[in-house]
Amino acid sequence: MQTVKAVVARAKGAPVEVTTINVPDPGPGEALVRVQTCGVCHTDLHYREGGINDDFPFLLGHEAAGVVEAVGEDVTGVAPGDFVVLNWRAVCGKCRACKRGELQYCFDTHNATQAMTLAEGDDAGTELSPALGIGAFAEKTLVAAGQCTKVDPSARPAAVGLLGCGVMAGIGAAINTGNAGRGKSVAVIGCGGVGAAAVAGAALSGASPIIAVDIDAAKLETARRLGATHTVDSSRSDAIEEIKRIAAETYEGAEGADVVIEAVGRPETWKQAFYARDLAGILVLVGVPTPEMTVPDLPLLDVFGRGGALKSSWYGDCLPSRDFPMLVDLYQQGRLDLDTFVTEEIGMDDVEAAFDKMHDGSVLRSVVVL
Ligand code: APR
Ligand code: ZN
Ligand code: ZN
Repeated sequence: MQTVKAVVARAKGAPVEVTTINVPDPGPGEALVRVQTCGVCHTDLHYREGGINDDFPFLLGHEAAGVVEAVGEDVTGVAPGDFVVLNWRAVCGKCRACKRGELQYCFDTHNATQAMTLAEGDDAGTELSPALGIGAFAEKTLVAAGQCTKVDPSARPAAVGLLGCGVMAGIGAAINTGNAGRGKSVAVIGCGGVGAAAVAGAALSGASPIIAVDIDAAKLETARRLGATHTVDSSRSDAIEEIKRIAAETYEGAEGADVVIEAVGRPETWKQAFYARDLAGILVLVGVPTPEMTVPDLPLLDVFGRGGALKSSWYGDCLPSRDFPMLVDLYQQGRLDLDTFVTEEIGMDDVEAAFDKMHDGSVLRSVVVL
């Protein structure tokens, strides 16, 4: 067992604290990872606010890169010294989804078996709930070996670690879920960290035009840098009309975009995305709605009449073993700009400040460097 520094949310709504935790030696199927970087994601804030469940205390952080320090029995996929990006979907290989070859839907993903615990205070010894089964705002963390994907060790950890959650969700929403590609138009509504990544994914796929929509001019500027061919400020103009107009400029007769990605997570923007699709277009919901939000009331005939598909994208339908190494290689080759997503590098003490910046929209990602 080792004792290391970590960022913990002890109670609902209370500010996070930097404290010490105990990390067990890896047992069968587990890996101990020396964390180098970990991005701050909306989900960490949801945990702290009690919006996910009440299993406090939480060990936050889940968008991480690091080096494997030790592995337990039966681990063959990774070894000490490997540079890895962590994922929160270690597939089981045995469930119905896995057996039919749809590993991205695995119904039985797993995490480390042993618990990390608080090391100081009155509640020392209390088991921690790691955010998304990772808990990487910590100098070291214990995960299932299947949560580690080996990637090019010369890549910048702060950039490639973001593939562990939000950036992969966006890229995957475009490429995996939306099946964006040559000959297709893509519109992305909401260009925060996730939507901007969807724009980058659409650009990688060869799709054109790529229409970025946001109400914040700075986000649109970033989207353009990542590959958007057109931008729409929907606080000033009608997003649906603009998407239709731009798509038709390239593809005569098009009544909207072939793939529309909703990366805000609100009914209004989902409805915009619905009506901004061309016939047979795909609508991808990747923004995460709150429990009280409902699907907007739509004429069923409008659903029927357009054909296509209404989809949701969970972790960008990614397969970490397939997608992480490929995307890291594209980054290393200068074909995928991940550095743009790293707005700032911060210390463990700055996580609360990073949550505030999330609200004011001034950053794509704050990344804790350990
Ligand atoms: N129309 C267009 N864009 C909007 C609108 C709107 N009505 N309202 C908000 N936006 C934009 C914001 O300006 C911001 O750029 O949506 C973007 C949201 O981005 P972030 O807050 O950075 O969130 P992000 O990390 O990208 O996640 C987006 O996916 O993972 C989920 O919980 C997350 O629901 C959130 C969504
Ligand atoms: Zn499975
Ligand atoms: Zn996340």
